[in-house]
Amino acid sequence: MTDRIFKCIFPAAGYGTRFLPITKSMPKEMLPIMNKPLIHYAVEESYNAGMNDITFIVGRNKEAIVNYFDINYELEHIIQGTDKEKKLEGIRGLLEKCMFSYIRQRRMAGLGDAIKCAKHHVERMPFAVSLADDLCIAPQGDKNVLAKMQDIFQKEQCTLIAVQEIDVKDSSSYGMVGVEELGDNLFEVKSMVEKPNPKDAPSNLAIIGRYVMMPSIFGYLDKIKPGKNGELQITDALAQQVKSERVLAYKIDAKRFDCGSLEGFQQALLHLFGKV
Ligand code: G1P
Repeated sequence: MTDRIFKCIFPAAGYGTRFLPITKSMPKEMLPIMNKPLIHYAVEESYNAGMNDITFIVGRNKEAIVNYFDINYELEHIIQGTDKEKKLEGIRGLLEKCMFSYIRQRRMAGLGDAIKCAKHHVERMPFAVSLADDLCIAPQGDKNVLAKMQDIFQKEQCTLIAVQEIDVKDSSSYGMVGVEELGDNLFEVKSMVEKPNPKDAPSNLAIIGRYVMMPSIFGYLDKIKPGKNGELQITDALAQQVKSERVLAYKIDAKRFDCGSLEGFQQALLHLFGKV
């Protein structure tokens, strides 16, 4: 077993219904934050964390993601030698330095099901999972969230979940964790529940879309039944893992924007334009 994470899985098969009508014909992962799509930020974060083996779990109508992470020869030809080439530097760098794979999730059956689709690709190695609509922006000069999790993983060698404090009245939008504090923004996870009512939330710590998982998670995913909203929930599999393995929560210090909601998306834009 390696003590570093190289693979990062990006579940990207959802319908993005909160963004209709634009998501009728455009994947939500391609929504632009300035001139880059959300998924670009997520892949960049993964690459900067030393995880350059990128796997997208896609569904129907997600070709725009596949095309984005490929060369557009016609465009390259047209802008060759002009100063417009500069605009492609970032994406060209990612294309050169990362490997990309695509797995098709045939039915939208939940985040747990999406992650299960990557089982054969992961091959009994620990791996990361990143949900691109949680845009995380680290404080200036600081490491990004996945890079911090990579560091923690090297010491702890166990499943890790990124969390942040929320107002408990919003707990029904998140997976929530019950914890014991260890210090240094680390917690031992004791219990987990997907989108509970505020009165049932075990704490005010909510899961955000960054995980490092031990491959034993697939055994738990095989055992659980569909949960919240009739979907296979990764939180339910992790809740089982917590009972027999060490699982840690890392409280992020980055700013996190829920770009799966219009309000979070607007906040992200305002932040990047330096307005807040
Ligand atoms: C998913 C997870 C949830 C987590 C959230 C973070 O929910 O199921 O546990 O808190 O991502 O964004 P979703 O927002 O996809 O419904």
